[in-house]
Amino acid sequence: MGRKHGERRSLELGGARFVGSEPAAVNFRKDVLEGLARPQKALPPKYFYDAAGSKLFERICRLREYYPTRTELAITRKHLRDIARFAGKRSALLEYGSGESLKTRLLIAALQPSVYMPVDISPPALRAAVAKLLRRFPRLGIVAITADFSHPLGIPAYRAPARRVVYFPGSTIGNLTPEEAQAFLKMTRGQVGPRGAMIVGVDLKKDANVLHAAYNDAKGVTAAFNLNLLARINRELGADFNARRFAHYAFYNPLAGRIEMHLVATEAHAVNIDHYRFSFQRGESIHTENSYKYSVPEFERLAGNAGFHLAKLWSDARGWFGVFGLVAT
Ligand code: AVI
Repeated sequence: MGRKHGERRSLELGGARFVGSEPAAVNFRKDVLEGLARPQKALPPKYFYDAAGSKLFERICRLREYYPTRTELAITRKHLRDIARFAGKRSALLEYGSGESLKTRLLIAALQPSVYMPVDISPPALRAAVAKLLRRFPRLGIVAITADFSHPLGIPAYRAPARRVVYFPGSTIGNLTPEEAQAFLKMTRGQVGPRGAMIVGVDLKKDANVLHAAYNDAKGVTAAFNLNLLARINRELGADFNARRFAHYAFYNPLAGRIEMHLVATEAHAVNIDHYRFSFQRGESIHTENSYKYSVPEFERLAGNAGFHLAKLWSDARGWFGVFGLVAT
């Protein structure tokens, strides 16, 4: 899917260089209109993360039921030295995501990368993360890249011919289909080159009840996160969604190996966006997210097909989450 971008820009701010292009807002409108016109209505999960959605996601990460964030952090803390040894000191660290997490700060402290390159679609998120990182690591060389990392990136040249290591924590790879994930790993393999590596956090298959609870928390934060997408469409595209006519619905689909999140219409009605009108039957849903869960052999196979070899696997005692250390084959 082609993505139109605005002007390419480069900007210096307190020791960090900002490059890339502002993603055009026009894609949001196009994706929403296309998604709602499908027989199974669907919206891309990347649009969850406006300012309100990002705040809700931070709350999700702290929920008792949502185990992935704290499990991945505990794994990272426990195996930090080994992870840093795997990546190699002074390597060039590219992160898919803005780099505002505690895991990133731990990794940077242990790895002392020659350059740190966060890649994120949101310029405000990048600016905030870079400012925070520079306070903690004043001498760290940072090249912050504004881009949608699900599309090929032009990585700016940097001086040292350092080994390239991509860090992709948070199990965000689970929000792609396995086919998309494989293509994405292949693209990453091209970016890191023959000496490169990747450290990727993957949520693993487990008891469906644990998964169900993680996406149906008692406080309703995940429901609010899901419904916020409608508020965003109203605000940014002038739509007239009534969130009270939709309910959050998340379940584990064992055949597909994924959590599916939907917004289900609780009554028959229609929604307007400009001169487009979308009708909903009672019980009809908008599919808003997939969150795939892998077994270790499944993810190893996926990575293998993309040109990576599983060199290291760091996990927790229950085997709920895996941090995969992949090297280019
Ligand atoms: C960002 N991503 C890995 C989260 C997940 O678990 O798939 C997004 C999320 N959706 C609902 N809760 C959290």
